[in-house]
Amino acid sequence: MLNLGILISGRGSNMESILKAIKKKKIPINPAVVISNKHDAKGLKIAEKLGVNVEVFESKGFKGSREEYDKELISILTKYGVTPKNGLVCLAGFMRIISPEFVKKYKNRIINIHPALLPSFPGLDSQKQALEYGAKYSGCTVHFVDSGMDTGPIIIQAIVKVKENDTEKTLSKKILKEEHRIYPEAVNLFARKKIRVSGRKTIII
Ligand code: GRF
Repeated sequence: MLNLGILISGRGSNMESILKAIKKKKIPINPAVVISNKHDAKGLKIAEKLGVNVEVFESKGFKGSREEYDKELISILTKYGVTPKNGLVCLAGFMRIISPEFVKKYKNRIINIHPALLPSFPGLDSQKQALEYGAKYSGCTVHFVDSGMDTGPIIIQAIVKVKENDTEKTLSKKILKEEHRIYPEAVNLFARKKIRVSGRKTIII
């Protein structure tokens, strides 16, 4: 079975939705480790409660380069069997850009969830960006991570209607509900080897 490593920085609600789906035996993957770059990430307690190994590798105050940080991160992942051969890395609200070396080493084995319909509104505050732009629809995207900012091949998207009275809070809530549905679904497809990547497209078998 594949080993899953989830990287978080905060709340961890996407992580929770994935771990709960695994617990319910919906996804054939071993939840090997949750790693946070912040010691006070709320998601750490949730992961512990669900009986998953947790590690904190603080990024604040880390003296080395991004590449050096990621090298150590990779050694933690490796310790839990989350390798380029037998692992999947899920970024779930992990508030760091990962180095090209990490991306290269785990090519098409790192996935991320973004709270907008990519390629619209990449980067931070996507829900606010969508509202300010006047988009009538937004949503979320699960995609492979490449060396760009939210640019990798798209695996699944879900659409949410933007209402005139939506605020950043109400829109974020609607989108998050969809995130919790499609992220476990994408992990499941990956675990069952149902995703083929062809150029910048994915084909779901
Ligand atoms: C989510 O909105 C996700 O799309 C974005 O960061 C947020 C993380 O939330 N990448 P959580 O930590 O999973 O609750």
